[in-house]
Amino acid sequence: MPKVLVATVKPFAPAAVEQIRKIIENAGYEFALLEKYPEQSDLHAAVSDADAMIIRSDKVDTDVIQAADKLKIVVRAGAGYDNIDLEAASSKEVVAMNTPGQNSNAVAELAIGMMVFMARNQLNGTSGSELKGKTIGIHAYGYVGRIVASIAQGFGMEVFAFDPFLEDSIFEEDEVTRVSSVEELYNSCQYISLHIPANDTTRKSINYDLLSLMPKGATLVNTARKEVVDEGSLHRILKERKDFSYVSDIAPDNAAELKSEFPDNCFFTPKKMGAQTSEANINAGAAAAEQIVQFLEKGDITFKVN
Ligand code: 3PG
Repeated sequence: MPKVLVATVKPFAPAAVEQIRKIIENAGYEFALLEKYPEQSDLHAAVSDADAMIIRSDKVDTDVIQAADKLKIVVRAGAGYDNIDLEAASSKEVVAMNTPGQNSNAVAELAIGMMVFMARNQLNGTSGSELKGKTIGIHAYGYVGRIVASIAQGFGMEVFAFDPFLEDSIFEEDEVTRVSSVEELYNSCQYISLHIPANDTTRKSINYDLLSLMPKGATLVNTARKEVVDEGSLHRILKERKDFSYVSDIAPDNAAELKSEFPDNCFFTPKKMGAQTSEANINAGAAAAEQIVQFLEKGDITFKVN
C-alpha cells in the first residue's frame, strides 16, 4: 500500500487535512501527517518510507531526497517551487509538481488588503488615501496577478502589467494595459504588486534603479518572495523618499531595522500568510492529493516541474 506523507511546518486548515486524507484513503493508500516539525531531521525520518509527499514552503533539499528511499513524487501544494531542489529530485527520479492557480485568490486578496492598509496609514486613524483613480502595475501576469488586476479594476484603479511570456490577447481580454519593460511599469505606477518567482534571474532584481522610477506616493507590495527585492536598495529608497512605502507578506532579513527606522512606511506580516485561508488550503491540498493519485495510478505528469 503506497504511503502518502503530508509534511507542513505551517499546517493546512483542519478541513483541508481531512479532505486530503479522504482522497488518499479512498485511493487505498496510507495517510501520514507531520505538522509543525521543529527540525529537518523530523522530516528525514518521516519521509524515509513514504512513496509520495505533499508539502507547502517546506524545504526539500538533497538531504530530504536522500533520506526518502521510496519517494516517487513530491507535490508542492501551491505555486512557487523554489523550496524544492529539482536537480536532486530528478537525480533520484522523483517527480516534482506544483498546483498552479489553486491558492491564487487568497494571495491576491491579501495583496489588495495590504494596499488598503498602507493607503489608510496602517489603520492608525489619520487621514489616508484611496485606491480609486490610482495606477497599479502587476509585475508578472500569472494566476495571482490576473486576480489582483481584476479586483483592482473593481476598486477603480488603472491597471498596467508586465509579463514577457504571455500573448497580447490575455491583456486585451482583461482590459489591462500591457507595458513592454519593467522600467515602463515602475515608471507608470504608484502601486506595484510583485508576482514573480524567485530564481537566478529574479533574485535581487527589484533594485534601487527600478524603485527610483516609481512616481510620488509609491507603494511596493510583495506577496511573492523576499529574495526578489534587494534589501540594501530598499533601505536606501526608504531613507531617501518619505513618500515611499513597502508592504510585504515575507519579511526581509533587515525587517527589524526597517521597521524601527521607517515605522510609518513599511509593514511585514508576522509570517507568510497569503495562501493561509481555509479555501486555499482545501483547493491546493486536494489538488495535490488528486495529482498524486493520478500519477501513481496512471502515470499522469501534467503538473511536473522537473
Ligand atoms: C505559493 O507559492 O503557493 C505561496 O507562496 C504560498 O506558500 P505557502 O503554502 O507556504 O503558504
